Amino acid sequence: MKFGYFDDQNKEYVITTPKTPLPWINYLGSNDFFSLISNTAGGYSFYKDAKLLRITRYRYNNVPADTNGKYFYIKDGDTVWNPGWQPVKTELDSYECRHGIGYSKWDSSKNGVNAKVLAFVPTDDTCEINRVVLTNNSSETKELKLFSYVEWCLWNADDDMKNFQRNFSTGEVEIIGSTIYHKTEYRERRNHYAIYSVNAPIDGFDTSRDAFLGAYHDNHDPEVVFNGKCTGSEAHGWSPVAVHQINITLNPGESKSFIFVLGYCENPVDQKWESKNVVNKAPANAMLAKYKTDADVDAAFAKLNAYWDDLLSIYTVESNNDKVNRMVNIWNQYQCMVTFNMSRSASYYESGIGRGMGFRDSNQDLLGFVHLIPERARERIIDIASTQFQNGSAYHQYQPLTKRGNSDIGSGFNDDPLWLIAGTSAYVRETGDISILKETVPYDNDMSVATTLMEHLKRSFDFTVNNKGPHGLPLIGRADWNDCLNLNCFSEHPGESFQCFGPSEGPVAESVFIAGMFVKYGEEYAQLAELLGDTAEAGRARKEIKIMYDTVLKEGWDGEWFVRAFDAYSNKIGSKECEEGKIFIESNGFCSLAGIGVKEGLAEKALDSVKKYLDCKYGIMILQPAYTVYHLELGEITSYPPGYKENAGIFCHNNPWVSIAETVIGRGDRAFEIYKKTCPAYTEEISEIHKTEPYVYCQMVAGNDAYIPGEGKNSWLTGTAAWTFCNISQYILGVYPTHKGLSVDPCVPHGFGDFKITRKFRGATYHIEVSNPSDVEKGVKELIVDGAHVEGCIIPITEGKTEYNVKVVMG
Ligand code: GLC
Ligand code: GLC
Repeated sequence: MKFGYFDDQNKEYVITTPKTPLPWINYLGSNDFFSLISNTAGGYSFYKDAKLLRITRYRYNNVPADTNGKYFYIKDGDTVWNPGWQPVKTELDSYECRHGIGYSKWDSSKNGVNAKVLAFVPTDDTCEINRVVLTNNSSETKELKLFSYVEWCLWNADDDMKNFQRNFSTGEVEIIGSTIYHKTEYRERRNHYAIYSVNAPIDGFDTSRDAFLGAYHDNHDPEVVFNGKCTGSEAHGWSPVAVHQINITLNPGESKSFIFVLGYCENPVDQKWESKNVVNKAPANAMLAKYKTDADVDAAFAKLNAYWDDLLSIYTVESNNDKVNRMVNIWNQYQCMVTFNMSRSASYYESGIGRGMGFRDSNQDLLGFVHLIPERARERIIDIASTQFQNGSAYHQYQPLTKRGNSDIGSGFNDDPLWLIAGTSAYVRETGDISILKETVPYDNDMSVATTLMEHLKRSFDFTVNNKGPHGLPLIGRADWNDCLNLNCFSEHPGESFQCFGPSEGPVAESVFIAGMFVKYGEEYAQLAELLGDTAEAGRARKEIKIMYDTVLKEGWDGEWFVRAFDAYSNKIGSKECEEGKIFIESNGFCSLAGIGVKEGLAEKALDSVKKYLDCKYGIMILQPAYTVYHLELGEITSYPPGYKENAGIFCHNNPWVSIAETVIGRGDRAFEIYKKTCPAYTEEISEIHKTEPYVYCQMVAGNDAYIPGEGKNSWLTGTAAWTFCNISQYILGVYPTHKGLSVDPCVPHGFGDFKITRKFRGATYHIEVSNPSDVEKGVKELIVDGAHVEGCIIPITEGKTEYNVKVVMG
């Protein structure tokens, strides 16, 4: 069952009922000012950091769900309604919400009045614009009252929801004309304030939440709105809000438009005040001056659309498959941008006050983003590498505002270092910019011990070389990619962190998954060394890789699939010898995609086993059989009920590894079958089961052992975005950036047909036409670049050339 449809022409998902199974959200903003916004206008805004500079207040896990946001109330006689339906929930005569690329729109009607709302963050400003257009479609004159509403957060979102003894006394505002200034803590250490303004004279305002709602009311039935009259309250402490009241007369057929601006403003520390306790309004005035008229808003909106059209023109496909086109050309890339911006901080499942930027997560996010804005990827790589330790290990997370490693979590996730190679290699392959490898980068932010980035990569590589266990496989530490496989932690008491409890460095527990990563990213490291002319280092690296390859086949092969790990007692995990958790996805996906066992025929066997034991209708489960009891020696993975999260859930993030592995051995049918199972454009049809937004990936879908298999959770901020984009764009459609140029080597299902790809790469545009006359899954029979036949499947780069016309014949 669907709750809307894709409008590919406008790059929008159109939601046709407010009663979606879960709030379906969108993100506004691409640089510093961000908003989360749901289909019922719930959500919140923040500047740069969702924890420390939260602008509006949100209540996670609220009842009813998602009932705080940027609301507009329309009072028409005795009827009060919201264009987004919530929070009053008056049944609407019509409702439509369009989530687009960097904006959301509503078009709703009640009793002959139509409201159109457009919400977006301009590309180069620290504000969100909400334009509200009201039209009278009835035959009588309407006397309407429009109320706006936001609730301010007292900046530090964590403190805001805990420290009431202080917070109920600190709130401060100023009201000047149609602008409400939120200036809590401005008198002391802050030099920033927020504003909410409208480009029209107002007939009233409120800034005290209690005055606006009335005692024992909530934003579903605010007294002020139902009474039709603001009280003019000035907030001192308690909970400051911003409410405007505008009385509107609309003749039949008449429309009126109002532009609301929610902004973040900063002053230099020595210019904070206009006069005693009166904030300097210069930045606010400058901002508001830019969005006075509809023409201003139209221009800013056109600029936003042009910005995105440009980004999304870097990789486009035209195939016979609409769903593939739509995911590749629009939604998957959009989600990659959002995950790059947010890491795992702010979604409807990540509260914005928890995790900072993950070392592993951010490197993977880069893989799907680097082609969009390589300069930002470059900066991110340097930031990440700056938190690495001198021995090559890494802080598991760092804080985006300070860019410093987070010592609460510390290090010891032994896959982390290798992801830095993955991210850097993707950047250099995309851009050819080897200067990044020579950048001087600190360790743990200490410049006195800085080295080149290439030396950082060497230490990443050697961290694995120097930290092997009894089978010669990499030590796992606190966990590897699977944060919940905690083989050295042995946590027995509730409240302890599964990951941070116990020793971080077990001398014994080993990861076959990290071994697969080492083979894959070790080779990418060797190629970077070669690019710098260091063939000796490349040779040394390849020797180490060979040793690891052989070790995996000798110690990590279980007969029909790859073992997952060895625990602290050196017992196998993910083996036929185990009672539960006999087979895992990660080692099988990653070792196979790294090429381990391909020529020996073992990768094929491993992937067959994955299909046989781990596949289900909704994707590939992380492991089988699910763990039914808690195992002290395995940690958090066994804490989840069967079928959820890392205990046999479908972790969408690692499904593309298996799909990619299938392309490595040339099985396009199976690679695509896996792609389809978790692909939003395909799961849209079962939205009532899947529940999360049908235009983006979620982290986890409940597996076969769960109460409701197929139910999705934790949408938006997941490594799934980047990995599925790599899978479909670089492996299935097959356009992969190499150091020597673009390689085109598709691996498609039978019947996929011919397709065209436009790819901008290193200053040139490639027009690639792939034909598949004999309907094969893989194989390039002929590559013709501007009429000339080329050997192999890499398009050689010609200096200065800006257009390439490429024909690829599969066969
Ligand atoms: C979460 C984490 C990611 C981890 C995965 C599996 O998505 O953000 O770092 O790899 O879970 O545990
Ligand atoms: C929990 C989650 C896991 C996530 C981790 C991040 O363990 O289950 O998915 O990666 O927290 O710290």
